[in-house]
Amino acid sequence: MQILAIETSCDETAVSIVKNGRETIANVIDSQIEKHKIFGGVVPEIASRMHIEKINACVQEALNHASLETIDAIAVTYGPGLVGALLVGVAFAKGLAFATQKPLVGVHHIEGHIAANYLEHHDLKPPFLCLVVSGGHTHLINVKTYTTFEIVGKTKDDAVGEAYDKVARTLGLQYPGGPKIDRLAATGDADSIKFPKAMLNDGYDFSFSGIKSAVLNYVNGEKMKEHEINAANVAASFQKSVVDILTHKTIKYAIANNIKTIVLAGGVAANSSLRSNMRSQATANNINLYYPSLSLCTDNAAMVGSAAYYSYIAGVRSNMSLNATPNLVVGAKPATGFSALHNNI
Ligand code: KG4
Ligand code: ZN
Repeated sequence: MQILAIETSCDETAVSIVKNGRETIANVIDSQIEKHKIFGGVVPEIASRMHIEKINACVQEALNHASLETIDAIAVTYGPGLVGALLVGVAFAKGLAFATQKPLVGVHHIEGHIAANYLEHHDLKPPFLCLVVSGGHTHLINVKTYTTFEIVGKTKDDAVGEAYDKVARTLGLQYPGGPKIDRLAATGDADSIKFPKAMLNDGYDFSFSGIKSAVLNYVNGEKMKEHEINAANVAASFQKSVVDILTHKTIKYAIANNIKTIVLAGGVAANSSLRSNMRSQATANNINLYYPSLSLCTDNAAMVGSAAYYSYIAGVRSNMSLNATPNLVVGAKPATGFSALHNNI
């Protein structure tokens, strides 16, 4: 079965065609990063407007790889994300589903990030433990089946990607700062500055606002003393604290619950230090580790097409009251926008 999937939750207009949840037939991504860079972050109003300008062309381009007649269902991210940005994708998907009389499937953005792994790791099946780390989310999730999720830990304040972007800004690096910190950290000494590791031994929730402020205070303090700041050392020390916390909690939960497979997902899963640290810890504890290739870590619509396939075969159908839901919770059943079938899973 082929699903045409649309993703517009933030600053990428993305459209994909995915076969049976595992094979990417088309993957069109129109990134707005260049437009937002000058403002130091995503400007919601600009994002919505650019999605409107781009979505038609992106759908057309995806359909160059498979004709509309061969599409069995239309999928769309309906939350969480920027409400105006989500609305563009949701409205377009509803219009397309209505006009073609094809089924519509609303997808949770985070469930999409998790499913990105199914596109490349054909042996991967639930259950597994997934660390979802992105610009807006930091979640430790027990993926029980393709469509049942239990959050076992989450951030109490900033998402880890948000902390990366703010620390990058403090160091004068452009948005999105995560990849730039990652590269800069490789040339620095990670033990040169001791930044806090909040809640390291305190359950499975996370907190990243303290470390973000600690970096800011350190940089401002050094500037006041007229010391030269070694940005590579700051980046490496910040990254070490963050990666140590993420790895420690994920591995600890897996061992405590006898989980043999860990999966990484979301934009920060592209981080080289997180990947290598988690790899060595997983190997040492006989745990399998999966993560997507770099281009599937950040936002794309192929991941939405994969998640939609598993929802579809579990009986999920959305209807014409599907709406953009900016604060959608993982695993939540929305009040409107889904047919009664949805309540059976
Ligand atoms: O998943 P994503 O594309 O969008 C959201 O759903 O939020 O994640 C974007 C985030 C940004 O904060 C970006 O700085 C971060 O992922 N990121 C990274 C790396 N690549 C992207 N953070 C650390 N290291 C990277 N290599
Ligand atoms: Zn995302």
